[in-house]
Amino acid sequence: MDKFVIRGGNPLLGTIRVSGAKNAALPAMAAALLTDEPVILENIPQVRDIETTRNLLAAMGAEVELGYARAHHRTTICCRTLAAPEASYELVKTMRASTLVLGPLVARCGTARVSLPGGCAIGARPIDLHIKGLEQLGATITQDHGYVEASARRLRGAEIVFDKITVTGTEDLLMAATLAEGETVMQNCAREPEVVDLADLLNKMGAHIEGAGTSTIRIRGVEKLHGAKHRIIPDRVEAATFIIAGALTAGDLNISGCDPQHLGALLQKLGEVGVKIKQTTDSIRVMGDSPCKAADIVTEEYPGFPTDMQAQYMALATQSDGTSVITENIFENRFMHAQEMVRMGANIKIEGRRAVVRGKTPLGSAAVLASDLRASASLVLAALVADGETIIDRVYHIDRGYENIEEKLRGVGAQIGRIGEILPKRAAAPSARA
Ligand code: EPZ
Repeated sequence: MDKFVIRGGNPLLGTIRVSGAKNAALPAMAAALLTDEPVILENIPQVRDIETTRNLLAAMGAEVELGYARAHHRTTICCRTLAAPEASYELVKTMRASTLVLGPLVARCGTARVSLPGGCAIGARPIDLHIKGLEQLGATITQDHGYVEASARRLRGAEIVFDKITVTGTEDLLMAATLAEGETVMQNCAREPEVVDLADLLNKMGAHIEGAGTSTIRIRGVEKLHGAKHRIIPDRVEAATFIIAGALTAGDLNISGCDPQHLGALLQKLGEVGVKIKQTTDSIRVMGDSPCKAADIVTEEYPGFPTDMQAQYMALATQSDGTSVITENIFENRFMHAQEMVRMGANIKIEGRRAVVRGKTPLGSAAVLASDLRASASLVLAALVADGETIIDRVYHIDRGYENIEEKLRGVGAQIGRIGEILPKRAAAPSARA
């Protein structure tokens, strides 16, 4: 299994470009199931979850062409015929977002067989709200041998009120409702930018959706959808990871190709912490040369502070003066990274859904273990400021959602390599020579 070796201490300087959003690309690829015409998606990140989704769709009979060379951030998906509307356990267990095919398949094919995702490192993560919503849309659902079986001659519009805000739940039912008979009104919906991006794509495919980005979404069902071309939004979580890297390493880093409007909660918090930030319409410049002050965060649904940026923020809090209390409200087990940071010398106490981080404490190199996607990103950040060489194991987690992260970081001065790669000796610091 790949490992990262990171020598900390380098300020990050220069420009780093953000890729397309994994969490927008996955539902967009599932949306292609809703039509027998080609759907062309651009700005697709080259990450492992995209590969998994391609295999998932191809196993159903879809033609999925991932672009190469200049076009390697584009994919063309054509679901002319779907011989096997099924998502197997083999694929779903590697990526729970595979459940996003459930709604589109039952809406388009009238039947779907999808493996239940099973447990996850960050929480139980059931899909009961997806199932309940599909039943409200008129689907008959049974669960058998770890699979959900859904069928409906044609879905019909309904009033759906989510008991809890769910991102992929909103996306799954939004897709299903586009081909339902009549109107569907969904309330207490997720307002994430990825939901809005999906609605934009579906409207380009001929759907009638209003209100995406608000808590109430209205969908007037149509008989048939057609093909479309769509550019996926930038990855706000990847952008956040690099913004925090710039602040942590006392660097001067420009994060380009992002959408600052999607990062409101983080930018406001970093302002409170004392990080200097300049932004344009599609870039953010971080000047991390001032000491950081401690500040509390509470993770919430969008537009609140995202749970997917919590681990990265914890790395920053270990280097901020004072005590930061981090409250995780979305997932019940999303502090796995904390103990690994403690191994590096951080002072973090976990009290249920709260992490109390006392800073600033110098971090030292250690061998640490990544447990999930964002936890692994936070360990990379901590290692960038640790004294010495840190080894991060199980970085396959990071490859699921970050495109060539080590190359991108190396491009702005980080000393990072995958195990097996000989790291070049770092030149002596200028002052030493003088
Ligand atoms: C999406 O997951 C993202 N994944 C996650 O990003 C992100 O952490 C999460 O939203 C929250 O922002 C994708 O978009 C592919 P939820 P999702 O349904 O949709 C409970 C990353 O790092 N719930 O909004 O699975 C659930 O257990 C990933 O990129 C139910 O109880 O999350 C959780 O406590 C990790 N029943 C809460 O709701 C349901 O049927 C929110 O989960 C559905 C959810």
